[in-house]
Amino acid sequence: MTIRTTTVDGVCTIEIARPEKKNALTVAMYQQMADAIAAAHDEGSVRVILIHGQPEIFTAGNDLEDFMKNPPADEKAPVFQFMAALGYAEKPVVIAVNGAAVGIGTTMLLHADLVYCADNAMFSMPFVNLGLCSEFASSLLVPLAAGYHKAAEKLLLGEPMSAEEALEMKIVNRILPPGEVLDYAKKQAARFTQLPPASVRETKRLMKAGFRTITEKIIQDEAKSFARMLRTDEAKEAFSAFFERRKPDFSRFA
Ligand code: COA
Repeated sequence: MTIRTTTVDGVCTIEIARPEKKNALTVAMYQQMADAIAAAHDEGSVRVILIHGQPEIFTAGNDLEDFMKNPPADEKAPVFQFMAALGYAEKPVVIAVNGAAVGIGTTMLLHADLVYCADNAMFSMPFVNLGLCSEFASSLLVPLAAGYHKAAEKLLLGEPMSAEEALEMKIVNRILPPGEVLDYAKKQAARFTQLPPASVRETKRLMKAGFRTITEKIIQDEAKSFARMLRTDEAKEAFSAFFERRKPDFSRFA
């Protein structure tokens, strides 16, 4: 079991639980998370969705082996289903991050409503370093949150972000000691169970409405580029280097 879903007192909790592979996300795991969010949407008693990882790791992002074997073919691919379910979730989404949040582990935060992280959290979007490109509207949402030049350091150079920097960049709400993050996120999630649900949903819809058309267009542009780039020799070199535990060599590419 790599994704554990529980629903208690109006809170649907999705736990990423594959610590032996640093919570790297496979096609099957994306599908499980997409299904869990869809079920939370349909279940009237659920007021809020909480996503968290393990005490030492949030997620190492896409499982690179699985990703090369099963590249997402189109928007029916589980990764798209998951991100669509998350991005268009009508109910609020709270995320708690301990340890590293790599790639889609950081991208998904941009689509959540509240994000709490540990002081040991480390965020990164190393898409360029992997021969790929930004995804799921990070090209829009990171510059919007943090300004273009800061976003360029993170998306063009793939520089990691500490918890403090992520707070400055406005992609997390608050930093807590590692042992307190999940409890705090649970408390914040529980607050939604005390609020009028239709009012929460409508306010969330209105807050997101202004960006929806542009976000959708950018996601489509990014998806086309990402799918093409996954098949390039640059990406193959980057992925092989990760598994061979060596530095990638991009010197032969023009
Ligand atoms: N895909 C597949 N396997 C992964 C993985 C990923 N994204 N991230 C980690 N793993 C696997 C490793 O291959 C290793 O497996 P093994 O024990 O069978 O050799 C195991 O998880 C532990 O990883 P390791 O790299 O030894 O842990 P670490 O604590 O030294 O480093 C990370 C943790 C997250 C910093 C590092 O694993 C990492 O950089 N992962 C890749 C991140 C990435 O590029 N993600 C894709 C973004 S699109």
